[in-house]
Amino acid sequence: MRIVMIGSGYVGLVSGACLADFGHHVTCVDKSAAKIDALEAGQVPIFEPGLDAIIEHNRTSGRLDFSKDLASPVAEADVVFIAVGTPSRRGDGHADLSYVYAAAREIAAAVSGFTVIVTKSTVPVGTGDEIERIFRDEFPEKDIAVVSNPEFLREGAAITDFKRPDRIVIGTEEPRAVEVMREVYRPLYLNEAPLYFCERRTSELIKYAANAFLAMKITFINEIADLCEQLGADVQKVAKGIGMDKRIGDKFLHAGPGYGGSCFPKDTLALVKTAQDHDSPVRLIETTVAINDNRKRAMGRKVIAACDGNVRGKKIAILGLTFKPNTDDMRDAPSITIIQALLDGGAKVHAFDPEGMEMAKEVIGPITYGKDPYDIADGADAIVIVTEWDEFRALDFKRLKSMVRTPVVVDLRNVYPVAEVTKHGFSYFAVGKKNEKK
Ligand code: UDX
Repeated sequence: MRIVMIGSGYVGLVSGACLADFGHHVTCVDKSAAKIDALEAGQVPIFEPGLDAIIEHNRTSGRLDFSKDLASPVAEADVVFIAVGTPSRRGDGHADLSYVYAAAREIAAAVSGFTVIVTKSTVPVGTGDEIERIFRDEFPEKDIAVVSNPEFLREGAAITDFKRPDRIVIGTEEPRAVEVMREVYRPLYLNEAPLYFCERRTSELIKYAANAFLAMKITFINEIADLCEQLGADVQKVAKGIGMDKRIGDKFLHAGPGYGGSCFPKDTLALVKTAQDHDSPVRLIETTVAINDNRKRAMGRKVIAACDGNVRGKKIAILGLTFKPNTDDMRDAPSITIIQALLDGGAKVHAFDPEGMEMAKEVIGPITYGKDPYDIADGADAIVIVTEWDEFRALDFKRLKSMVRTPVVVDLRNVYPVAEVTKHGFSYFAVGKKNEKK
């Protein structure tokens, strides 16, 4: 099967590489000449565990190649995936579909023979209809089917998510497209991953509803965490206790500084806008978005409160900048807002992140970067864990205690049992637990 992936960003590269690994021939296309040149030279432009090895293996064995030119690979393709960006449109929060429609027009001009066009990008309900209309009106002689096949890849775990998915959602009612999509995902039958076929509009909505539900679940436990702090309860134990109920489930119940990343913030907002446009508001999601936005700033205030209400002139050591571990992605990372709140309060912020510092330099104000946690903790008035990278899970608190100016740890990811930190003489402020002030 010959597959073309339009867009060699995060989703396109991971999906393209994994499909090549399954034995298909895949060409990843991108308009950025620099990106394609780098990929052809064996350099992977994003950080995702395991991706380099899969790209290298399939590139050298000839199943995966890269191209700046869309027309020639598309002319040969059985399936063309659209995996271009759908950022939030400035001003109104709707998904910006200009890249998707531009790609669709270019594909339309190039396809020959029956070809399945698949939207992998997260697109609002009705986008597949619009792509179909472009073909019908502008390229009526072309024989195509437009299919929705949303991705559910978590950054940092994307390879496993692609190869061992809970389900693969495929939105099409065209029998020839159903057969082609079965063939694309045939290798996954071995893993018994269910293919879930439904109408295209339903499939498009499944993606938004799934992300909105998960964002809501996180936001729910974050509010319960705040309540725990007031009531003297422990949110991790509450999460465990409710998660044991199979109707609730134990995933996505980690309280923290609020969700960030490339998907939840933009997709929840786009769903809110679509729902408002159709006079069918999703009020739970509207509230989720508002609570999450406020929470990031509130986490800044939490750090300030831990420093006796004043950070002016104080040195704050921030451990972790990316929106979650195992990625270099800074998009909508809570660290951005938290650090801004601290800078506004007059703090001197020093930060370390294993992968995110390059990208952070573009989005965060004037702060100092260090080379490891101990480098930035020297003389600090508070150590703040913002992202739960594994390397922050076994900090040497004895050593840290000897270096800091004021022994305060604010753990916004609940990485540590309280006693493990307090026994070294630190005050410990976690999320959704009783504060331990020394
Ligand atoms: C998400 C979806 O999980 C994925 O299916 C979709 O296709 C893309 O968006 P991703 O953004 O990579 O993936 O990360 P995810 O692991 O879902 O975390 C999103 C945010 O929620 C992060 O900021 C994370 O720290 C936060 N989170 C997650 C919590 O605060 N608590 C949790 O229990 C889980």
